[in-house]
Amino acid sequence: MSKPKNTAAVMDRARPIDRQQAHEIQAFGHTTRMPIALSQNVAKQSVENLNQILADTCTLRDLYKKHHWQVAGATFYQLHLLFDKHYEEQNDLVDQLAERIQSLGGVSIAMAPDVAETTIIPRPPKGREEVPVQISRLLHGHEIVLKEARSMARQAAEAGDDGTNDLLVSDIIRGNEKQVWFLSQHLVDVPLVKAD
Ligand SMILES: [Fe+2]
Repeated sequence: MSKPKNTAAVMDRARPIDRQQAHEIQAFGHTTRMPIALSQNVAKQSVENLNQILADTCTLRDLYKKHHWQVAGATFYQLHLLFDKHYEEQNDLVDQLAERIQSLGGVSIAMAPDVAETTIIPRPPKGREEVPVQISRLLHGHEIVLKEARSMARQAAEAGDDGTNDLLVSDIIRGNEKQVWFLSQHLVDVPLVKAD
């Protein structure tokens, strides 16, 4: 074993090389070619569509967490739990969308300011709101995602991007429709104790 030249050199080698900077390896909006037998044009269009749904899904996910924290009233406990369950499911969709974008050779949107300037779901107030308003906001967000997902799924199918079509139909559309069912039933005005 060779002897170290001096103690200072050894200490230097132990220092983490932090604060490094370099150019990006891929610019946002640029789609690189992946060997997945899809044309560049098709991949690029899918990446663009998926980034829009990704931004809206991030927003919907965060809206669930906001309402999980801020919910009030007699149904606090069940809604607190339901909102968090839907948050987790939306979070899983976020990951699937982002990884699909990367698989297609794109760059997925990631950070909150970029999500905020891309999403088409209206920004809620910072303060707390009543349960019916919270649920109405969530339903509106789901409907925005469902509308764009259906048209993007058709576009992907027509272009031959079956993987994107499958993600949009099997996960995004069916998942969002099921959450809408769970939420919307809380806005049906039926008696709680005494029948009409
Ligand atoms: Fe929590």
